[in-house]
Amino acid sequence: MSHIAEVMKMAKKVHTVLPAFNIPYIPMMEPVVRALEEKNTFGLITVARLEWVKFESKSQEDIASEYRRVGNPECTSLHLDHIPVIDEDHLRIDYMSDISKALDAGYSSVMIDGSRLNLEENIKAVREVVELAHKTDVPVEAELGAVMGHESDGIPDYDELFESGKGFTDVKEAQRFVKETGVDWLSVAVGSVHGAITASARKQKKVTARLNIEHLQMLDEALQIPLVLHGGSGIALPYLKDSFNHGIAKLNIATDIRQPYEALKDTSIKQAQNAVYETMLEIINRLNLEGSAEKLLRRK
Ligand code: 13P
Repeated sequence: MSHIAEVMKMAKKVHTVLPAFNIPYIPMMEPVVRALEEKNTFGLITVARLEWVKFESKSQEDIASEYRRVGNPECTSLHLDHIPVIDEDHLRIDYMSDISKALDAGYSSVMIDGSRLNLEENIKAVREVVELAHKTDVPVEAELGAVMGHESDGIPDYDELFESGKGFTDVKEAQRFVKETGVDWLSVAVGSVHGAITASARKQKKVTARLNIEHLQMLDEALQIPLVLHGGSGIALPYLKDSFNHGIAKLNIATDIRQPYEALKDTSIKQAQNAVYETMLEIINRLNLEGSAEKLLRRK
């Protein structure tokens, strides 16, 4: 089993979480890593396709090269976030090419997002990626259910969405999905939503999301693999902490560190980086993650 697969397993076992920080602007990576180092916290450095298409992370290779400069294997690992089969603008993507490039560039784990496909097609796409990535022992994350928010047409009313459970990951489907794909980690839909990314909405404050912990508990019991929570910014803290006791081993955070950077980047990159660093300290403290690197690596 690869290093990061073992660290994820351990995080699930000891009911802590690996926060995964998205890097839509390359200079954000240095303060993210610095905060993780200083607080001895293990975290993933991650980039999604939409961040080199719609923001300024350039490419998965550019992110990998910055990672070689500032990353630290004692407390970080490089992960490829959302490579969609169909993207937020409803376009088909050459996902195998994007995944192959990331594997060549040295990413330690990858995500394939077939969540806009039907179940059969999602299984087929994920299996194809798993076959490729497992050749070099790279774990794969996939998504089942609908974690909304990235769509250019926005999301329906949050309270209605949460109460109806529309788009939540179905337990039976998830069992079949995991069995037939051999996927290592699963992103589940249990109430979280992504921060908006369209140019007009990306500055908006996110809605405070809740999680259906009972539903999560059913998924955790049925699947028994590390689960992933997307849309990590703005989830009410008691739900978040509870989710770490029910299988969530990785938490994706983008909006919370992107917005302070964007607010200052045209004034001074240094000041924008400082704002990211301060936010990182606040997140590590809020999630009680100080010292997690030592704890996880020692026990792995
Ligand atoms: P937020 O922007 O809501 O933190 O979501 C991040 C995410 O899930 C990236 O995959």
